[in-house]
Amino acid sequence: MNYVRLNNGKNIPVFGYGVYCIPKDECEKCVLEALKVGYRHIDAAQIYQNEEEVGNAISKCGIPREELFITSKIWVCNYGYKKAKESIDRSLKRLKTDYIDLMLIHRPYANYKGAWKALEEGVKEGKIRSIGLSNFNVKETESILAMATIKPVVNQIECHPYGQQKEMRAYLKEKDIAVEAWFPIGHGDKQLLTDPVLSEIAQKYGKTVAQVILRWHVQVENITFPKSVKPERIKENFDIFDFELSQDDMAKIEALDKGKYCPTPPKWLDTIISKFKRA
Ligand SMILES: NC(=O)c1ccc[n+]([C@@H]2O[C@H](COP(=O)([O-])OP(=O)(O)OC[C@H]3O[C@@H](n4cnc5c(N)ncnc54)[C@H](OP(=O)(O)O)[C@@H]3O)[C@@H](O)[C@H]2O)c1
Repeated sequence: MNYVRLNNGKNIPVFGYGVYCIPKDECEKCVLEALKVGYRHIDAAQIYQNEEEVGNAISKCGIPREELFITSKIWVCNYGYKKAKESIDRSLKRLKTDYIDLMLIHRPYANYKGAWKALEEGVKEGKIRSIGLSNFNVKETESILAMATIKPVVNQIECHPYGQQKEMRAYLKEKDIAVEAWFPIGHGDKQLLTDPVLSEIAQKYGKTVAQVILRWHVQVENITFPKSVKPERIKENFDIFDFELSQDDMAKIEALDKGKYCPTPPKWLDTIISKFKRA
């Protein structure tokens, strides 16, 4: 496993397992399967409604806690200092752990600055090791940098070969904030997974298109965590550390960028958060 060194000196496994959209009744089994395959980094969130099941897997897996890297994210309705602080304690309880390795502000809405203060306090109290952002644009990131006493270590953003976030990634690199890529294989985008350029590269290395995309993420140092509920895909997605894409193939993938992103915010989210104002 490759690691990325964060701006606070801590290491994060560059590759992990995401649990968005995994139903409650499948989540414990899926996380245990991923841990059996070798994943050590789990990307969770309060809004995914399955922290409890991730916690069950953590407590049952038999892997020492210090070998695991657990991320969660504070959801919009828990923003404001006091509510965010209480929600951190609830996440710890559900995850059945004394500390969360990385906790993020999930989206920049409403009183996210109050939530940031609660995260900083969580670090000082030893409940959280590292804190960061998710779905923040440049202006919103600057608003946190202007008030932060602890610098965010990551910004988790949508990123895949059809939407590579080149400007945002360059900005984050300049600020020494690591990039985390959500929708790493485009949320299963069929067009992306059958792209002729990617298919040709995959054939050349004897790998699948998904593996080529995930390897591209690792080589550009995007920390990422594909989701699958299927044991064979959980294994397939992890099997990317025995080959390396050539510079030529990396350039071909970089040329596939077409600025294709899901709407911000996506429709389903819009209805939930319409009562909160984007900062
Ligand atoms: N911060 C944010 O706002 C945010 C937003 C979205 C996601 N995330 C994080 O990013 C993680 C990944 O995002 P995601 O799950 O939405 O998208 P994704 O990992 O890009 O794609 C998952 C989809 O692809 C399918 N899939 C997985 N492996 C495959 C393979 N090898 N070949 C073909 N299809 C495959 C899965 O289906 P099966 O399950 O049926 O295999 C699922 O439908 C999430 O779990 C979450 O942790 C964060």
